Amino acid sequence: MRRAACPGSFDPVTNGHLDIISRAAAIFDEVVVAVGINASKNRLFTADERMQMLREVVAPYDNVSVDCFEGLLTDFCRRRGVLAIVKGLRAVSDFDYELQMAQMNSTLAGIETVFVPTSPEYSFLASSLVKEVAGFGGDVSSLVPASVLTRLQDRLGEERS
Ligand code: PNS
Repeated sequence: MRRAACPGSFDPVTNGHLDIISRAAAIFDEVVVAVGINASKNRLFTADERMQMLREVVAPYDNVSVDCFEGLLTDFCRRRGVLAIVKGLRAVSDFDYELQMAQMNSTLAGIETVFVPTSPEYSFLASSLVKEVAGFGGDVSSLVPASVLTRLQDRLGEERS
């Protein structure tokens, strides 16, 4: 059983994340989407909300589950018997930091990182940009799943009122 982890903040999950998760699910027997919880970071959605949105959008994939972790990703991988970390690479600008993390995770726990090139239509996509554009009333309906769009609009509406 070859199990991979797709880690991230997923605040919120975008179509770009889903692209990488679905492609990881086609390569590995099992994929755990690992939501990083870092209390010091200011998030739009709580960890439970981020996991709930992810569970809804990965429901069509039989071999994908969602979990969360605090602390080191490598500790989560060890606990969950994860063989490899899957990361999307959007552009060369992602590479330096991702390579550094991959080498650190390999040094810490011997866990491999597999890089998957992001599909070109999502190469500019980031949760932070989606939140910014949606916050100013821009149309992000082609960038996030429909269920996420509804929650995003609701949350931004709550913040405004
Ligand atoms: O979606 P993000 O914010 O790019 O996700 C980053 C995440 C959660 C994957 C990364 O920050 C992480 O792995 N955090 C866990 C802490 C850790 O293991 N740090 C050492 C990395 S070498």
